[in-house]
Amino acid sequence: MINYDFTVTKVMTEKTKPASDQLAFGKHFTDHMFIIDYHIDKGWYDGRIVPYQPLTLDPASMIFHYGQTVFEGLKAYATPQGDIQLFRPEENILRLNRSNARMCIPEIEPALALAAIKKLVQIEREWVPQAEGTSLYIRPFVIATEPYLGVAPSKQYKFIIILSPVGAYYKEGINPVKIAVENQYIRAIKGGTGEAKTAGNYAGSLIAQEKVAADGYAQVLWLDGYEKKYIEEVGSMNVFFKINGEIITPALNGSILPGVTRKSVIQLLKHWNIEVSERRIALDEIIQAYQRGELEEAFGAGTAAVISPIGMLAYNGEEMVINEQQTGQLSKKLYETLTGIQYGKIDDPFDWIKEI
Ligand code: COI
Repeated sequence: MINYDFTVTKVMTEKTKPASDQLAFGKHFTDHMFIIDYHIDKGWYDGRIVPYQPLTLDPASMIFHYGQTVFEGLKAYATPQGDIQLFRPEENILRLNRSNARMCIPEIEPALALAAIKKLVQIEREWVPQAEGTSLYIRPFVIATEPYLGVAPSKQYKFIIILSPVGAYYKEGINPVKIAVENQYIRAIKGGTGEAKTAGNYAGSLIAQEKVAADGYAQVLWLDGYEKKYIEEVGSMNVFFKINGEIITPALNGSILPGVTRKSVIQLLKHWNIEVSERRIALDEIIQAYQRGELEEAFGAGTAAVISPIGMLAYNGEEMVINEQQTGQLSKKLYETLTGIQYGKIDDPFDWIKEI
């Protein structure tokens, strides 16, 4: 690997670390962060690790006005032997660059991004929590920083990585969540930005989530933007269904986020010789399967959410209770295998793990 010469400035006083069995998601941040700047005339320059601190930005910075930004999410895990490891970081870096391309942000050399992640996590290794189900969430992101109000790609950017020790994403933990099908708003359409991990997709989704949160639903299930007929994804995860033994997930159609956990689930199922199809799935198909008693399991898959069983799906006021709101056998097996590999408790036949 290329040895990037990032300068390191350490904090004078370290923060008190939160108790690892009391972690929620994304509320605590470590002592240091990585930053590298970009200027159109210089490329990416001055990669550095500095104390975690607020950013000073010109109020005309283009990120504030036109939302030219992308982000990623991956995790570092502590193994029982005390090693720290990453799960498929190259996949996140590839996707970061695909999002960059869609948002007219310059590419970041994948080896540089990986070296920055590894170096920062190495410095913050004491922050990787040890309690069951916890990890160190890694949030790389890029923002447009040129002070300019014209609508055009920025000529300056910052690529930043921050770290957050996390527990479960949902308050339900690993227990089934309730999801409501959204039939008013849409998340994305083909040709839009749905495939990119960019802030606007999430900002635009908040209104739908707020609408259902009061009724106890964790998130919404998005339908396609043309006919509001076909299933796309859930707020922060891709979605899978098990119907009469068949595992199905919406195909990547240009408006769905290509999840790393989604890809891993598909690879695991194939490895187990369990048939899985990526295809167009009508909501009606799910409702009919439910009515016939054939909807056996539903679950979400995402880095933050891991494998999150869906215990209830609501549509137009009707509630479909799935698998008696219990975690299904397949969801459990996927959760255990995936986290087993991530935490170094079981073998990784796929070469998904990268040690720090
Ligand atoms: C992730 O799963 O890492 C995500 O980025 C989802 C999210 C918390 C927005």
